[in-house]
Amino acid sequence: MPIERKPIVVVGSINMDLVARTPRIPLSGQSLIGTGFDTTPGGKGANQAVAVARLGYPVHMVGAVGEDVFGKALLDNLAAAGVETAAVARVSGPSGVASIMLAEKGANAIVAVPGANGKVEPESIDRQAALLRAAAFVLCQLELPMETVNRTLAVCAEAGVPVILDPAPAASIAPEVWREVAWFTPNDTEAAFYLGDAMPPEAAARELLARGLKGVALKRGSEGAYVAVSGGEAASVEPFRVQAVDTVGAGDCFNAAFAVALIEGRDPWTAARFASAAAAISVTRHGAQASMPSRAEVDALFAQPG
Ligand code: RIB
Repeated sequence: MPIERKPIVVVGSINMDLVARTPRIPLSGQSLIGTGFDTTPGGKGANQAVAVARLGYPVHMVGAVGEDVFGKALLDNLAAAGVETAAVARVSGPSGVASIMLAEKGANAIVAVPGANGKVEPESIDRQAALLRAAAFVLCQLELPMETVNRTLAVCAEAGVPVILDPAPAASIAPEVWREVAWFTPNDTEAAFYLGDAMPPEAAARELLARGLKGVALKRGSEGAYVAVSGGEAASVEPFRVQAVDTVGAGDCFNAAFAVALIEGRDPWTAARFASAAAAISVTRHGAQASMPSRAEVDALFAQPG
């Protein structure tokens, strides 16, 4: 008989990404001729959910899409990827969109317009409390209203469910909320936002842990990761060297794979190495959800010597 696994629950945004490829990110006031355009499913929450599903782990999405044409396409795409969408509401008005400029070598600039994501209220979380309480991990980002994120953290804290908070896009976090976070996973820019300045990873992790977090995994892109546990060890995680073409969604891919590996019993550094392998594959392909790797692909890269 198959063993029943507690699902991962993602509470987060669902966007349609409108991606213009460009030779470089234009300066303010400058117009450029682009080299291509894609309309492709994204949103930090939905990206993480699809990445979990691609890794073969059960996952539920909590969020909202609009009653527009994007809403149906986004829901269909989640379901096709194997994400359970019963807790995704369809609300009046437009779905979330992200306007993305994607420059050569994968650099990008993103403006996300919340649409339906902005209508995921704390009461929506209360309605899904039973689902959250039954989760192995809850994954959150900051593309939903902050009071909704806070309610998610409170429900999970009360039930003892660990939360991985991806602080993207970076926004102020109330002091009492930090101790409800099991893993905080900023990239370098986001870490600098919370610390007031860029810092070496050792100092950044130390300062962030001092706010009450249980663990920090700094996502350092082509530099790998730095993982530190409150009252425990701290160490770098080596990157996998690949040719990046599109880094949109790579951080989301990392978070999803990190959660799956932790659930499977790997220590945090091995889990971060597994997550780095997943993210490395994702940057070699275009699209956010479209780039998420399969379990077999990640296992194969992870098995390679560093
Ligand atoms: O993390 C990448 C995501 O950020 C994109 O898919 C876009 O939708 C924005 O939300």
